[in-house]
Amino acid sequence: MKKVLALMGSPRINKNTDRLLTLMLKGIEDKGHEISKVHIVKKKVLPCTGCNYCGKKGECIIKDDMEEIYKGFDNSDIVILAAPLYFNTVNSITKHVIDRCQKYWSIKYQLGQNYRRNENRIGVFLAVGGTDYSHEHFSATIPTIDLFFKAINVEYRGNYFVSGTDKVPIEERKYIKEELYEIGYNIDNIKNFYCHR
Ligand SMILES: Cc1cc2nc3c(=O)[nH]c(=O)nc-3n(C[C@H](O)[C@H](O)[C@H](O)COP(=O)(O)O)c2cc1C
Repeated sequence: MKKVLALMGSPRINKNTDRLLTLMLKGIEDKGHEISKVHIVKKKVLPCTGCNYCGKKGECIIKDDMEEIYKGFDNSDIVILAAPLYFNTVNSITKHVIDRCQKYWSIKYQLGQNYRRNENRIGVFLAVGGTDYSHEHFSATIPTIDLFFKAINVEYRGNYFVSGTDKVPIEERKYIKEELYEIGYNIDNIKNFYCHR
């Protein structure tokens, strides 16, 4: 049994991002893993101010709901981030959470301390975008997610992207249900994957 932290980054609960994530979580749940799902929009997460307090103290000076999300990162084997595409990258409330993970970068590279290295933790990224399919639709997100997963020391194991959600919402895409369930069910030992529907 693995501990899974699932971050839902859309401000719109039960819309495309949330539904996509839920389809994967169903498989994860049926396999018996323990899921902690966080709707970022329900949390107060202020933006990083770049004060470099974390570079000196190893913790963030801002005391808000990010403290709960930090605990989630610290205690999870698998981290799933789901976000909508806004201006070709992850939306701002999701980016606030990512930027606040500067703390982990500072712990490792400024303070030279260990943070959960070599523990075989897994990171998976899901995203939706309103406009029609194009090959590069989600490519601007990948370097950001790559650095984010490196900061929290999870191995970037896979992407699941869905284009065109403004025309055909997730709820109408029955064919992806089985695929997402399958990935979720096998999440703890899945090989690298890249799906773009
Ligand atoms: C401010 C804003 C910017 C957006 N920018 C993009 C974009 O750059 N590319 C894209 O494909 N869709 C864009 N969209 C559309 C969303 O990605 C789409 O509506 C998606 O389904 C939203 O996810 P949700 O349904 O989970 O909220 C944008 C939407 C908003 C509100």
